Amino acid sequence: NLSFVHRFEPGTDPAQPPLLLLHGTGGDESDLLPLGRSLAPGAALLSPRGPVLENGMPRFFRRLAEGVFDEDDVRRRAGDLADFVAEARAAYGIAAPLAVGFSNGANIAAAMLLLRPESLAGAVLLRAMVPLAEPPAADLGGKPVLILSGAADPIVPEESARRLAGQLGRAGAEVEHAVLPAGHGLTQSDVARAEAWMARWR
Ligand code: MLT
Repeated sequence: NLSFVHRFEPGTDPAQPPLLLLHGTGGDESDLLPLGRSLAPGAALLSPRGPVLENGMPRFFRRLAEGVFDEDDVRRRAGDLADFVAEARAAYGIAAPLAVGFSNGANIAAAMLLLRPESLAGAVLLRAMVPLAEPPAADLGGKPVLILSGAADPIVPEESARRLAGQLGRAGAEVEHAVLPAGHGLTQSDVARAEAWMARWR
């Protein structure tokens, strides 16, 4: 019995890295399966549901207000999720996954990279911001990270996404950060950008 409600789709193409799919606030474990299938056809997909409820909406950690995070909870939940990934890897026999996270899911993926770098092979962070003002020193050893921000995103300040790119880069990740003509929601250009980036890394 694994510790998170989740869906798992076994991979059919061993050349594709498994994906860890992390939904946004109010989403669930089914939301990002279509995106995962399109980014990495044939990859194993591991998709947990955020265990925190905010007015009935699942999330991956608590926040005090929009954009104001409970950093103790971020640390604890990032650890729990990294433990779940380790359990799931053993149960399903998969390699360390590449996280694909949207919004709150991107923020917990960023926290996992900084706190438990061994748990992820890299990440696609869609509409991410800084999850921890002062992260510990981490060694990301060249792990690939793509950050896609929206120029007109009312929730994520562009400066916060830039600061996150800096934190991850200083920790040794191979970071690509692009600001797309978009809001908080995902667009076709997000999918196209992420697909092109995935094709370079697999
Ligand atoms: C967060 O709480 O992680 C961010 O504000 C993004 C979101 O709305 O989920």
